[in-house]
Amino acid sequence: MSDSRTLYVSPDIPIELISNDRQWNTDTFEFIREIYHGHSSRIYVILDRQSSMKLILKVYMKSKLGKYVKVTNVLEEIENHRQLKHENIIELYAAFEDSKYYCLVLERGNDDLFGLLKRELPEDFITEKIIKPLLDAVEYLHDEKRIIHRDIKPENILYCGKTIKLADFGLSINYSRNRPTTPCGTLSHMAPEILVCQPKRYCKNGIPEPNSVPRKSYSVKVDVWSIGVLACELLTGSTPYKSGTLNDTMQSICKSERIELPTSVTPEAKDFIWRALTISESKRATIQELKNHPWILGASAFRLKLPRLRSVSQTWSRTSLIDESMQIENDYSLVLPPLSPSSPSMDSMGSRRFKSS
Ligand SMILES: Nc1ncnc2c1ncn2[C@@H]1O[C@H](COP(=O)(O)OP(=O)(O)OP(=O)(O)O)[C@@H](O)[C@H]1O
Ligand SMILES: [Mg+2]
Repeated sequence: MSDSRTLYVSPDIPIELISNDRQWNTDTFEFIREIYHGHSSRIYVILDRQSSMKLILKVYMKSKLGKYVKVTNVLEEIENHRQLKHENIIELYAAFEDSKYYCLVLERGNDDLFGLLKRELPEDFITEKIIKPLLDAVEYLHDEKRIIHRDIKPENILYCGKTIKLADFGLSINYSRNRPTTPCGTLSHMAPEILVCQPKRYCKNGIPEPNSVPRKSYSVKVDVWSIGVLACELLTGSTPYKSGTLNDTMQSICKSERIELPTSVTPEAKDFIWRALTISESKRATIQELKNHPWILGASAFRLKLPRLRSVSQTWSRTSLIDESMQIENDYSLVLPPLSPSSPSMDSMGSRRFKSS
């Protein structure tokens, strides 16, 4: 007898998944394979026994919660994700818990964008198929839902048929309910204001120390910064801020200098990146300004250019899940083959994520 408790069921759940006596627990699924093994969560491709639909199950082990991810973070992830309904955001179909796990039943994407970093992608493919839809999703998040994602990076963007969808709301925050002050995200994609916001000082009873200065909060602009890093990564194959040590990387992010970009990157793309990677939060572009940037508006106006010649970067820290033999079709469709049947070894999937408690 399962001890599971349903936490959420989407009103827009696919009809095949609905029935009067529907139970939400791990027994109702067949586990096909694990595709990710993180600090506190695991991601599985599952088969729903009732409908034969393939879905994704994100599983948090309760015994592992506390150090990096707390129970409240998981509940916040469910609370934020359940409100989202957008064509460029992966859907949360249901959530349940039992004595050992919190489980999120998710729409299945083909793979994340990490594997695409190895390839030379035409600029208008990047704008049309990745950045434009991402800006739409993030504008919806910020303006309609008051949510900051806080972890935009290739690993959290999935391609689903012909489009991309934003995923992983594990670090998201509703900024109308909470002040965003916690340093969190992935260092390589983290905005400078996150790095300089000082940790809160608490006494043992959880009350701030009498003389501690209230921590400065940051804003939706942290997502704009991450989009700038992402654009740079997709165009050049590597993130702009990287140095040997953690400290060096932090310093390089906080230096108020324009990053250098190779000549293979067009002036419009450079300007887009520089507008997003502006140190001053108030001078940094808004999502609306990025949507109206000539690089984005001009994208559909020009046709496929010859591939840009960039040197192949070797900075990837995770093995691609994508079959090397596949090609991006010239018609710009983002239809890529399904996940390769052989899952890579988990050791090769080092996460770039950095979380602060
Ligand atoms: N709906 C999905 N469809 C296909 N693949 C997915 C889906 N959700 C997640 N993945 C894959 O699993 C990876 C990890 O998932 P996710 O980003 O949600 O976990 P995480 O919160 O980053 O994990 P942790 O913080 O424990 O490292 C993603 O980078 C992606 O490759
Ligand atoms: Mg993630």
